[in-house]
Amino acid sequence: MRRKIVAGNWKMNKTFQEAEDLLAELADSLKEEQEYQDVEVIVCPPYLYVEMAHDLSSDEEDETQVYYSVGVQDVSEHDKGAYTGEVSAAMLSSMDVEYCIVGHSERRKYFGETDAQVARKVEQLLQNEITPIVCCGEQAEEREAGKQFEVIGRQLEDGLFGLKPLDFSRLIIAYEPVWAIGTGKTATPEQAQEIHAWIRNLIQEKYGKEIARVIPILYGGSCNAKTAKDLFAQPDIDGGLIGGASLNAEDFVAIINSFEK
Ligand code: 13P
Repeated sequence: MRRKIVAGNWKMNKTFQEAEDLLAELADSLKEEQEYQDVEVIVCPPYLYVEMAHDLSSDEEDETQVYYSVGVQDVSEHDKGAYTGEVSAAMLSSMDVEYCIVGHSERRKYFGETDAQVARKVEQLLQNEITPIVCCGEQAEEREAGKQFEVIGRQLEDGLFGLKPLDFSRLIIAYEPVWAIGTGKTATPEQAQEIHAWIRNLIQEKYGKEIARVIPILYGGSCNAKTAKDLFAQPDIDGGLIGGASLNAEDFVAIINSFEK
């Protein structure tokens, strides 16, 4: 059995007060739910809220009762120094951040993030014991041209396949077709499964059967309370990386509870 994971990517949303309200509501709902217990829930708010998110992530009296883990949305490729505005993996680790999204299509598109940078960021994170959640996915035109496998293959090859097997086995991969992100156009379960199985097969060719078997591959792109169930029922889909629907506690909890029982 592979791990089941639901991660919320808040992107650049929520003021401090809104963030606190949402996390308190999320913690409250998860406290009530028994069903989610075997699902790893991760919340990736903006950096500024990491400490607050961490404070609200577990029971005040019993800190072993953790409702969700805290992640972030990006990290510097450098380890420290004169890089104004950047946040290093060591800093994240010192704030108990456990996960970090890397190579999101919005970072690739608006900030020019390359596969070589993805590789360096992943390396920084692994050195600091933070689990990278690495995104890949094709754009609409690339899918129309039948190039989705080529594009994703290159992203994985250039961004990740330089890793040694033990390091690679610590990753979480997220398939996020760019045409599905924030558009309300969720990939069909069949479309997503086809890519997930293909990615797993590529990992198997590179790193062998055992690593391919255990690596979690999440789906992201307009995944919501309605679409999550059929997506998560696919054999190679191990959960979701959720944008818009993670900004509402009720919707996010419904997604967390969408795995087959
Ligand atoms: P949406 O769920 O809003 O489409 O965003 C997906 C995403 O980009 C998560 O990283």
